[in-house]
Formats: sequence, C-alpha cells, structure tokens
Amino acid sequence: MDASKRQFIGISLGGLAALAVAGIASVTYSLFRYYLIPKPDSDSKGKITIPLGDIGAGNAKFFEYNGSAAVVVTKPDGSVVALSAVCPHLGCIVQWEKDRQDFLCPCHAGYFTPDGEVVSGPPPRALEKLPFSIANGTVIIG
Ligand code: FES
Repeated sequence: MDASKRQFIGISLGGLAALAVAGIASVTYSLFRYYLIPKPDSDSKGKITIPLGDIGAGNAKFFEYNGSAAVVVTKPDGSVVALSAVCPHLGCIVQWEKDRQDFLCPCHAGYFTPDGEVVSGPPPRALEKLPFSIANGTVIIG
C-alpha cells in the first residue's frame, strides 16, 4: 500500500472517529437534559405546573409530559409557549439554543422557531403545541 492510500485511510478513520464522538456527545447531552433536570410538579390529573420565575425570559424548561419530552418557553416579549420536545422528523429531542432563540434538533440539524415552527432542515411539520394556561405566575400544562 502506498503512502497516499495510507494517508487517505488514516484521514477517513479519523473523520469517522470524530463523527462517532460527536454523536455520542449529542446523545449523552440530550439524555442528561431529559433525565437529570429536576422535574416540575404534577398533580393527580397529569397537569404540570412550572412557576414562571423558574423559566425566565428567553429561556426554556424541559419536562416530561404524558411520558414524553416537552418544553415550555418564555419568549423575550414575555409570551409563553408549551411544546412537545419530540422532533416530528424521526423523534429526537430538540435542544433550546438561548443565544439564537430557537430549537435545534441535534440528529439532523432541524431548526424550529420558539413557537415550534420549522425554520430549516428535514422536519416535515412544526413541534406539537401543548395546551396550557397561566395562573398566579405559574404555567399549567395539560
Ligand atoms: S430527528 Fe429531528 S431533524 Fe431528524
């Protein structure tokens, strides 16, 4: 085998290893956010309650809703949105990008607005909106 073939194989294997590490890091980060973030309160009817003060303007808070990942966002204008955090493409969990004020699906680079509408990438539709109300400074989902 000549040097250029060895060099090509070495670069290819290095690239594959880098992709594998990036993929593992992305999945680990998603699992960490989904399972280790403190869960908000829920009542016997399955409603989730999250104090607005726990979210903060321009932030998102992830939680479990009916056995699935969900998220509530407080936009900089103070409006609130509650969404499924499950990407409608192939079911990965989206991530909130505070600096960009959007959602990124790490699996295939799908982007969504804070309202869950598709900006770019392969997702075929918006993130599912969840019913919610606000009372006494608390978001009630469900
Ligand atoms: S699973 Fe989200 S973009 Fe593919």
